[in-house]
Amino acid sequence: MKVRGRVLSVASECVPLVKTGGLADVVGALPGALAPLGWEMRVLLPAYRALRARVADWPEVWREEGLWGGPGVVRMGQVDGITVLALDAPHLYDREGGPYSGPHGDWWDNPQRFAALSWVAARIAREGLPGWKPDVLHAHDWQAGLAPAYLAYGGKAGVGSVLTIHNIAFQGIAPASLLGELRLPGAEFYPGGLEYYGGISTLKAGLVTADRITTVSPSYADELMRPEFGMGLQGVIAARAGVVSGILNGVDTGIWAPGAAAVPYGAADMAGKAANRAALCAEFGLEVPGPLAILVSRLTDQKGIDLLPGAMPGFIEGGGGLLVLGSGDPALEAAMRGLEAQFPGRVAVRIGYDEALSRRMFAGGDAVLVPSRFEPCGLTQMYGLRFGTLPVVSAVGGLGDTVINASPAALAAGAATGVVFHPVDGLAFGQALRRLLALHASPDWAAVQAAAMRQPVGWESSAAAYATLYAGLRV
Ligand code: ADP
Ligand code: GLC
Repeated sequence: MKVRGRVLSVASECVPLVKTGGLADVVGALPGALAPLGWEMRVLLPAYRALRARVADWPEVWREEGLWGGPGVVRMGQVDGITVLALDAPHLYDREGGPYSGPHGDWWDNPQRFAALSWVAARIAREGLPGWKPDVLHAHDWQAGLAPAYLAYGGKAGVGSVLTIHNIAFQGIAPASLLGELRLPGAEFYPGGLEYYGGISTLKAGLVTADRITTVSPSYADELMRPEFGMGLQGVIAARAGVVSGILNGVDTGIWAPGAAAVPYGAADMAGKAANRAALCAEFGLEVPGPLAILVSRLTDQKGIDLLPGAMPGFIEGGGGLLVLGSGDPALEAAMRGLEAQFPGRVAVRIGYDEALSRRMFAGGDAVLVPSRFEPCGLTQMYGLRFGTLPVVSAVGGLGDTVINASPAALAAGAATGVVFHPVDGLAFGQALRRLLALHASPDWAAVQAAAMRQPVGWESSAAAYATLYAGLRV
């Protein structure tokens, strides 16, 4: 395969090494999706405590002195076919806890921790590794937002830069007093540059300096330029509209495959799905005459979880059931446990993170609920399509871009793949669940499942879109 170009991807999460959300899935999937198109991608990420042992004997390919309180070493190795560059800087990353927070909340020095990651990314992009010089630096979210900025301010050496927004709710806010410490030029601190409501936002720094801005669905790209969704950055993004584009995420269709379920099934033979459903109900002590809805999610305000308690009683009364897997906001966890106590045998809740269980849920569920207030792309509705577990989604961001509502016209055309509702409130969600009950009881159900399972949700077309974007940056 002829190498068309090289990309240094920089992010704070990457499957299978570290994951808190869909960002990790996407960062981990891109190298494999781009390789057949001739784009060689390496992924730079911090060597958090859980990774250090794994990378300890990888060869050192870069050394950086003075990385905010100590040195950093980049070690290179292969994990599941991904070439990983692990930035080992124990004073920043060797800590008990998650990537962003410890037992007492967010790490106090997150601006410095991710400035260090971005600094090393920009230097490697500019100077290259032995035998490997990137053409493009691809930064993800606020954690890598300073990478395009450091590249732009320090000299680009012919390297193009892309910043992808996976979620604008997290903006990497730091006080203006850190400007010098974060090695940012004081002359750039003005409203059209680095300044953000009197402080600094590492995401904004990337937005004003990257050559291209992408986000993870076409609709979210439009939404981001509006105040309801832009969360303060709408003007910054609108000002750069000419370089903004939306490229839908894909999912790993090898892993998320009904043919790989405990009892395999496919669009032509759905008997296995019933067996998976029966096993799932037995595992959780559920007896559900109507559709079994599943929810696999971070339990946060973004995901519209607070709409469930109001909408569930009507759904349960109509014969539905609910199985929840998630963790997050303690109040939302308590609300989910409340539903379980209210509807024994019809609602079951597992608080926690469990990928194997999530797969059993997609194989055995009838519908997946994604009532998000905003959703840049969303992956679980795509898993739902793949498994014939029909998505019930709000019409925002990537949800609206990937699910076709079962309207009479769409049903007649054989195009419907799920239930889409708007606005994002309890009333509309409750109505959507009633539509789900009716659809489940109707002869159309099997046809909608088949249409859902036919949807292309893999990476092929999106990888091609990234390849075109990178190619457009070649100088
Ligand atoms: P976000 O990144 O906003 O959380 P996405 O839908 O893009 O939303 O990605 C979420 C990813 O995390 C999916 O792969 C989903 O299956 C997974 N996930 C979320 N919560 C859990 C959980 N409790 N157990 C297992 N997987 C989970
Ligand atoms: C973010 C978004 C989600 C998206 C994921 C991967 O976490 O919330 O919608 O699918 O990033 O791009």
